[in-house]
Amino acid sequence: MSAVTRYSFDQIGKESIIGHPDRLKPIRILRLNANASNAAVHFMNLKKHILGFSIFLPILLSACSDQSTDRQYVIKFSHVVAADTPKGLSAELFKQKVDERLGGQVVVEIYPSSQLMSDDDSIEALAFNEIQMTAVSVSKYNRFTKKLQVFDLPFLFNDMDAVGRFLEHEETDRLLGVLDDKGLMGLGFWPSGLKQLSANTPLLEPEDARGRSFRIQESDVFEAQFLTVDAVPQKLAFGEVYQALQVGTIDGQDNTWSNIYSEKIYEVQDYITETNHNLMVYIWMVNTEFWQRLPEAIQDELEVIVDEVNAEVMAMAIEINANDRETIVQNDPDKLLQLTPSQLEQWREAMKPVWDRFRDEIGEEVIAAALEANNS
Ligand code: LMR
Repeated sequence: MSAVTRYSFDQIGKESIIGHPDRLKPIRILRLNANASNAAVHFMNLKKHILGFSIFLPILLSACSDQSTDRQYVIKFSHVVAADTPKGLSAELFKQKVDERLGGQVVVEIYPSSQLMSDDDSIEALAFNEIQMTAVSVSKYNRFTKKLQVFDLPFLFNDMDAVGRFLEHEETDRLLGVLDDKGLMGLGFWPSGLKQLSANTPLLEPEDARGRSFRIQESDVFEAQFLTVDAVPQKLAFGEVYQALQVGTIDGQDNTWSNIYSEKIYEVQDYITETNHNLMVYIWMVNTEFWQRLPEAIQDELEVIVDEVNAEVMAMAIEINANDRETIVQNDPDKLLQLTPSQLEQWREAMKPVWDRFRDEIGEEVIAAALEANNS
């Protein structure tokens, strides 16, 4: 079991029954597997089935908006990073606007820093409407759809301007809807920054990574890209990264400047190579059934707020990453390693074969649109 606090289904929205042996209610279990007769068997099978059959449950439920005006709607928004990161501040911005304009009718409760659950658990919780909102890295939806893998391709985007252009492309609109059939509605993509590679030994050329273990998110593309440089990828929850680096279970990791700073990863890594090799982007999701049951007037106001927040996320991410980079470098200038053009080219070339492996799953037109964004 992960060191991250595990989520139990009754943990949210109920008073203190966390850890109670009956926490999985038979009614849910029966809905998951109507043919089985034994609740214990259902319990054992729950995790196995949860990503398959059960995630379709929300769309089996009717969804029509509730027109009562005196109800209060609570949006529980769980995420894994610190409150002062691009995601943390974007979530706060959403809450602030909702408080100002829908105060009393809609309450947004934000749970940062994995305090409620890991990202993996939050995807399940969202599907069950146990929480209503998340902004999980697209890489972690790998089990549900292969289409979002486009964002994980190494060295796809030259810079954040290109990312911004791609996010305005109509292909991206389509990507936002890829989880519609799972009862999860995409509200927007939140770019968080390009990722940097860190370790306790200098990483300047691809062969410097050979034999070293790197923490990765739940992404087959990331796994493949580290394997192409003969490194050892290890999938690990975000909340476990600091400790794994500290005790040496893994040698290195990659993440945005903001996450490297706010998680204090820089304290347990001697070198950070400014590779900008992958993008960190979140898909802002709401439980579809929850959304559709909101009174229309509330939905309309929320839609305006959602657009306003989406419009601010990129600028916040750029600024926060620049500041956090500056703080880390000022604190220890020797930590920063910058690649020469030829070293950068070596990394690009080494990881390029990964593109061909995932091209069919992702779709040529999506990759073409992303590449086009580099040239605009
Ligand atoms: C990670 O696992 O590294 C990221 O998904 C964390 C985050 O949400 O930025």
